[in-house]
Amino acid sequence: MRLDLNETPKTILLITSSARGAASKSSLLARELTDRLQRRHPGARLIQRDLGIQPVRVLDMEALEALSTRPEQRTPEQRAIVAGHDALIAEIQAADLVVFGVPMYNFSVPAQLKAYFDAIARAGVTFRYTAKGPEGLLQGKKVYVVFARGGMYRGTPLDSQTPYLQTMLGFLGMTDVEFVFAEGLDMGPEAQQAGLAAGRMAIAAL
Ligand SMILES: Cc1cc2nc3c(=O)[nH]c(=O)nc-3n(C[C@H](O)[C@H](O)[C@H](O)COP(=O)(O)O)c2cc1C
Repeated sequence: MRLDLNETPKTILLITSSARGAASKSSLLARELTDRLQRRHPGARLIQRDLGIQPVRVLDMEALEALSTRPEQRTPEQRAIVAGHDALIAEIQAADLVVFGVPMYNFSVPAQLKAYFDAIARAGVTFRYTAKGPEGLLQGKKVYVVFARGGMYRGTPLDSQTPYLQTMLGFLGMTDVEFVFAEGLDMGPEAQQAGLAAGRMAIAAL
């Protein structure tokens, strides 16, 4: 493991999205990866966001209206909605390293994580359109995604999570992404042990 004591302190953002709290395997492994990053970057500041405990409001009509209303005309409720999104954006803007813990729910990412991306994708702030097409503005970050899955879908057409996250993160400017897979976690105790071990081996190799 590299240890560069001369580097400026990093900010690590850990975003977990399981609804299973302490039983979550994606959160467990994402935390282990984060511990490793903290050892690699002594003095790093850690920000933790647990979307399972603090869900982001879905982008409903009220939220869209709040975002499209001019700041000086917003109601207190609309200001609160926009402020919530602003805080999430500021958090990821400040991060050098971002770790996502992502369970597979019904072949996709948890709704909480989708709501998170809906909140942070803001034109002119986290992405913009140029004459050459879209440009992500959350650049220069290293991103790690840790998947936990009951079954085995890596590299198959049923893995819609990896392309979705690659597209979404890339659209926002985060193109340096490493994926870690812990699969087969609900296929019996042996498969679970093997799946966790595979995830941990991948983390150790990062
Ligand atoms: C609501 C729900 C939906 C799930 N859907 C899938 C699925 O589509 N494919 C799969 O392989 N596992 C599925 N699982 C199993 C989880 O991916 C697996 O238990 C994983 O460990 C969950 O991550 P977590 O431990 O971080 O919560 C589902 C679990 C739940 C609770």
